[in-house]
Amino acid sequence: MKNFLIAASILSADFAQLGKEAAAVIEAGADLIHFDVMDNHFVPNLTFGPMVCKALRQFGIEAPIDVHLMVRPAEHLIDQFIEAGASWITIHAEACDHIDRCLQMIRDRGCQAGLALNPATAPDGLSYVLDKLDHILLMSVNPGFAGQSFIPSTLDKLRTVRALIRASDHDIRLQVDGGITAATIGSVAEAGGNTFVAGSAIYNAKSYRAAIAEMRQALPGVLAAV
Ligand code: DX5
Ligand code: ZN
Repeated sequence: MKNFLIAASILSADFAQLGKEAAAVIEAGADLIHFDVMDNHFVPNLTFGPMVCKALRQFGIEAPIDVHLMVRPAEHLIDQFIEAGASWITIHAEACDHIDRCLQMIRDRGCQAGLALNPATAPDGLSYVLDKLDHILLMSVNPGFAGQSFIPSTLDKLRTVRALIRASDHDIRLQVDGGITAATIGSVAEAGGNTFVAGSAIYNAKSYRAAIAEMRQALPGVLAAV
């Protein structure tokens, strides 16, 4: 797999033509479809669920669908999303009472498992579940909305979590979500991020292809080619 992955968040897409919008960002060079599930409970917004994920698969989306569950509880939705065609499933540490069990459930069903941390959540607990993680997602905005500004303290947290991963024997991707643009992606990569979620920076651009290319050009050179 590539060292750097760009996950386009369809939260900023035109929902009236979601299938076409998802296909368009993959065609424009994104690696994953990032699928933001919100419940108006854990976060103050409401989006879409497993039926919409299934509809994207039926429409013909073959790229990995990276499901970010901003819901409490997450447990009941895991199976439904796997049946709907999810490839990656990320649960929030703050919204799950049984993190270890949920991560195992995701993996047992053949999906990639991830744990997300809000900006003010300490990374301490990660060390106990490193063997069950395919990726860690650090929120660089408070979850709930697209188009917010990157929170700079995420960079220090990224360095801490990158060191934790490096010191372990595990191959875990480090994903960053919120406020990723061509202006912020370079410092995020320098701090250890390798999987970048971008919503408004892609979907609000005139050319999705140019927006993605501009982000890739802002990545550190040696690693960007890998
Ligand atoms: C926010 C979502 C993000 C959102 C990012 O709660 O998890 O995935 O789409 O949007 P931008 O890239 O606009 O900050
Ligand atoms: Zn997200």
